[in-house]
Amino acid sequence: MKLQIINGPNLNLIGRREKSIYGVLSFDDYLDYLLNKYPQLTIDYFQSNIEGEIIDKIQEVGYSYDGIILNAAAYTHTSVGIADAIRAIEKSVIEVHISNTKSREDYRHKSFISPHVNGIIQGFGLLSYELAIISFLNNIKGE
Ligand code: DQA
Repeated sequence: MKLQIINGPNLNLIGRREKSIYGVLSFDDYLDYLLNKYPQLTIDYFQSNIEGEIIDKIQEVGYSYDGIILNAAAYTHTSVGIADAIRAIEKSVIEVHISNTKSREDYRHKSFISPHVNGIIQGFGLLSYELAIISFLNNIKGE
């Protein structure tokens, strides 16, 4: 099974950024943990601070990989372009967030992405990504 993790803006700073919200572990260290724990999977990782690059990656893998685990970060709350890219592709997308966006500022309550994904996992810290992997392993696609 081939899965693509896509992280949006400022998620390259996980471990250094607002540690009380996002924790102290870097995403690279967490990715090592995932790769060691799920050696039977191909888990590719892409991070960008640029909206168009995230759209390009969704288009690139969206017809060939088995699924996408997408944390669009701040673009979650603003991006019609990312929402349209998800609508365009054939593969399952799980939206993840490290924090519980519903318990934070009002502007984080709106997700342009949520209506078009197969499932949403948020508020479990970095474990949110592993829960998304488990959903793919169990063939839970939210359909
Ligand atoms: C986030 C939540 C977003 O509101 C925020 O802009 C982020 C990270 C999360 O994973 O909790 O950058 O997507």
